[in-house]
Amino acid sequence: MKIGVSGKGGCGKSTLSVLLARSMKRLGYRVLLVDGDESNIGLENLTGISEPKHLMDFLGGKKGFKAKLNQTMMTDNPAGLFSGKQTIDDLPKECIAKSEDGLEMLIIGKIHHIGEGCACPMGVLSKKFLASLETGEKEVVLVDSEAGVEHFGRGIVGECDLILGVIDPTSESFQLAKKMIGMAANADKKICFVLNKVEPAIEDVMKQQLNSAKVIGMIPKDHSIFMESLEGKPLTKALPEIDEICRKILEAG
Ligand SMILES: Nc1ncnc2c1ncn2[C@@H]1O[C@H](COP(=O)(O)OP(=O)(O)OP(=O)(O)O)[C@@H](O)[C@H]1O
Ligand SMILES: [Mg+2]
Repeated sequence: MKIGVSGKGGCGKSTLSVLLARSMKRLGYRVLLVDGDESNIGLENLTGISEPKHLMDFLGGKKGFKAKLNQTMMTDNPAGLFSGKQTIDDLPKECIAKSEDGLEMLIIGKIHHIGEGCACPMGVLSKKFLASLETGEKEVVLVDSEAGVEHFGRGIVGECDLILGVIDPTSESFQLAKKMIGMAANADKKICFVLNKVEPAIEDVMKQQLNSAKVIGMIPKDHSIFMESLEGKPLTKALPEIDEICRKILEAG
């Protein structure tokens, strides 16, 4: 199962991606966490996994990737660049890093230099990579995305089996969620949502903003999660709310 995690900037996509990945691992799944955010860095801190070689760099950087892509398109695949189907085990070993508890992580690519050009190649690589990646019955690929809906436009979430929207307590977040529901419906994609940073005093107001069966859970605002993230430490908290959300996602998938 491939899951794309989406939402407004700062709503908690990376935090929840890591917490969900850990929970799914505990439930006995093989989990590959994919860092699909070309701008933000630090997902490896939240996981405690040492940074693997970025997939884009493995392919020779943006230039090398573009050249390989052209070759693939012109000659109908001799370079074999994600043209066939592949499993997690087929991915380049240096691009996968593992935590002590067996959680695996891959980074698509990052922006490194002033004036290096747009991040479109990262989007193309993410889409091709996910389109070609096949998951087994007990395997989950969780894609942490950049803020907003750029990855909807690029078609990256179109390659996922489920879009998981994260909503924080802001009106912009709810507005974006409604837009995402429309976009997912037009593309015939499954979508569900998690309310994040929920406090007792605002819980009812948040529920009223998106009164939908698509909301599959709520995560409390948690000081220890915030502090571990602030200090650049791996997230260690196991929340029953996260485990419950995982069960719902995996049952639905
Ligand atoms: N449930 C929570 N309780 C407390 N703090 C939280 C919670 N979820 C996320 N945060 C905090 O919110 C901030 C943003 O979280 P995070 O980086 O995961 O968001 P993001 O959506 O990935 O952001 P970006 O759009 O920049 O990638 C961090 O300081 C994080 O610790
Ligand atoms: Mg993030």
